[in-house]
Amino acid sequence: MKAVSIDKITPAGNVAITEIPVPEVRPGWVLVKVKAFGMNHSEQILRLSEIEADHISKPIVPGIECVGEIADPSDSGMQEGQKVIALMGGMGRSFNGSYAEYALLPAHHVFAIESDLPWDRLAAVPETYFTAWGSLFECLQLKPTDTLLIRGATCALGYAAIQIAKAFGCKVTATTHRESKLPLLADSDEAVLDDGQLAGKANVTKALELVGAKTVRDTLRCMVKGGIVCHTGLLGGVYTLDGFDPIKEIPNGVYLTGFFSNYPTQQAVDEIFTFLSEHKLQPVYGECFDFEHIREACIALDGGKVNGKITVKI
Ligand SMILES: NC(=O)c1ccc[n+]([C@@H]2O[C@H](COP(=O)([O-])OP(=O)(O)OC[C@H]3O[C@@H](n4cnc5c(N)ncnc54)[C@H](OP(=O)(O)O)[C@@H]3O)[C@@H](O)[C@H]2O)c1
Repeated sequence: MKAVSIDKITPAGNVAITEIPVPEVRPGWVLVKVKAFGMNHSEQILRLSEIEADHISKPIVPGIECVGEIADPSDSGMQEGQKVIALMGGMGRSFNGSYAEYALLPAHHVFAIESDLPWDRLAAVPETYFTAWGSLFECLQLKPTDTLLIRGATCALGYAAIQIAKAFGCKVTATTHRESKLPLLADSDEAVLDDGQLAGKANVTKALELVGAKTVRDTLRCMVKGGIVCHTGLLGGVYTLDGFDPIKEIPNGVYLTGFFSNYPTQQAVDEIFTFLSEHKLQPVYGECFDFEHIREACIALDGGKVNGKITVKI
């Protein structure tokens, strides 16, 4: 089968398709015919540095998510041809991922779906919509009456969160750190230029923090009493809250939580697809590449110029 397989630091310009054997199915794992996949910043990190770490199995086929069909259900109880999505759980790091025609995946991280969406659009869903969904509903306990701040909204996750929260009935304020990108946030109720200091200007019941540790202290100060902040993104490039003093830095009666997409469930996947279908929503994405052009897709990912999710169709 055609696949991208790497065993050393690989700049986007060196990404190439190679031939490797179709994996042999085994108990507890299912063989998925990959139809399309979304691309993620973590795959760029894998190619450019993490590949050298001991916890990465090498050589490795990158790709932490995909959409496709069951080619061999093994002992999973699924049917051959069942439409599925898969994400995380070590995919593309501990075992081969989605940059390939077939992927052998642990059955507990492969989820059946019913959807008529085309593959290129469907590929925008697994990691991005699961993360948006979990952040908004599991962590922020979103209600239609909420006022929601999405900080760092000009990213795949931000666009998905705006779409879901607006369809749910919330009033959404979305921020960008680039004035030129304010028009990209037109689906929100209010697009705001973020100069790093929103405290005193915003006053919301819920906040989805996508810039991360760089701004979360300020975001905590944008909340009404009883408000919740969900720390999900790291766009600001700062990963830890050094010297964080919870007593002084979390205002009284404000809650701080975080979301990690490593634990998807069939229930959450079902809820996402039901919501998309009931609200007649088309998952949003920036650009779709054919698998033959995976190198160009990786160059686009590393360049950060695509507005929204990059998907790749096989
Ligand atoms: N917690 C989890 O489990 C989980 C799961 C998925 C993703 N994430 C994280 O969520 C974030 C969004 O992921 P994604 O896949 O949606 O990202 P993405 O689509 O790849 O977004 C990248 C874009 O974000 C923009 N951005 C917006 N605000 C920024 C800021 N303050 N600083 C730097 N860049 C900013 C950049 O464009 P401009 O600078 O031009 O605006 C950049 O091109 C990432 O940090 C990702 O690691 C977390």
